[in-house]
Amino acid sequence: MDLTIRPRRLRGNERIRRLCRETRMSPDSLIYPIFVDEGLIGARPIDSLPGQCHYGLDCVGQAVEECLAHGVKQCILFGLPGKKDAHGSPAWDKKGVIQRAVRAIKAQYPDFYVITDVCLCEYTDHGHCGILCGETVDNDKTLEVLAKTALSHAQAGADMVAPSDMMDGRIAAIRGTLDKHGFENTPILSYAAKYASAFYGPFRAAAGSAPAFGDRRGYQMDPHNGREALKECALDAAEGADILMVKPALAYLDVIRACAERFDLPVCAYSVSGEYAMVKAAAAAGLIDEYRVMCESAVSVFRAGANQLITYYAKELAQAIKKGDIG
Ligand code: PBG
Repeated sequence: MDLTIRPRRLRGNERIRRLCRETRMSPDSLIYPIFVDEGLIGARPIDSLPGQCHYGLDCVGQAVEECLAHGVKQCILFGLPGKKDAHGSPAWDKKGVIQRAVRAIKAQYPDFYVITDVCLCEYTDHGHCGILCGETVDNDKTLEVLAKTALSHAQAGADMVAPSDMMDGRIAAIRGTLDKHGFENTPILSYAAKYASAFYGPFRAAAGSAPAFGDRRGYQMDPHNGREALKECALDAAEGADILMVKPALAYLDVIRACAERFDLPVCAYSVSGEYAMVKAAAAAGLIDEYRVMCESAVSVFRAGANQLITYYAKELAQAIKKGDIG
């Protein structure tokens, strides 16, 4: 057979397949979400996210230990406050759940990298991501409280803040406030292209942050739009974002790729709760091989161009990388 080009030559054995991998992964690129519940003592499994737990302030250290044991050295924190109000004021309380969690973690594990989610939806009694004016979220009024919240996280010792609210102008507002208070070296990870997605369902159940009325389509992006993501990223980059995020991950690989090609900032992807819960459910039903689907999904996100991945599988993926099954 006269076949000069035989792609199978590079697939003949494990050694050469590994030699030729185009996508390399490292536990350094994985970020693990940790839920801290102010009203909880100990750790409690989360019904909507099998394998994940809520942690009380007394045992956030346990969550960190579990990360470190797997080689994961960075987390993103989400808080469940004891009280909520119309303005989400527990979000910027110096003694709020996140502020206390950050202090506790950084005191015990100064090298563990702590990113905080900056949003109001877990802290407002109506569950929307900002201050309401009638039934809509008032953009400009919300900026001020987001900036206050981000500042309180930085003051508590957060290494990086990650606004996830999708208000216009919030990166500039947060950057300005952080700089004014001497936190010019605290990076901002912007949830820049965050879609109004049904994939957040299990998270909202876990965080108690589902909107009491309406939905988030007035501020999060329409899934039909790809170019609009570039506009959002360009704005956030111009306002001083250090890292751009695309969220969810698997259904938006085209957006990840487009952002990675267009911008010279790192692109972070968030493999969200619904992505995780679907794999767990299909695996529990005996329909898929959970480990292999987990690995393949994560590889695809990095192949698309992501530089970091936030995932509920961070610990298991770090192990898979160490074993050489991926990366
Ligand atoms: C807060 C926030 C959400 C998620 C991250 N930050 C929920 C939402 O926007 O409704 C979703 C994460 C996930 O589904 O895993 N605004």
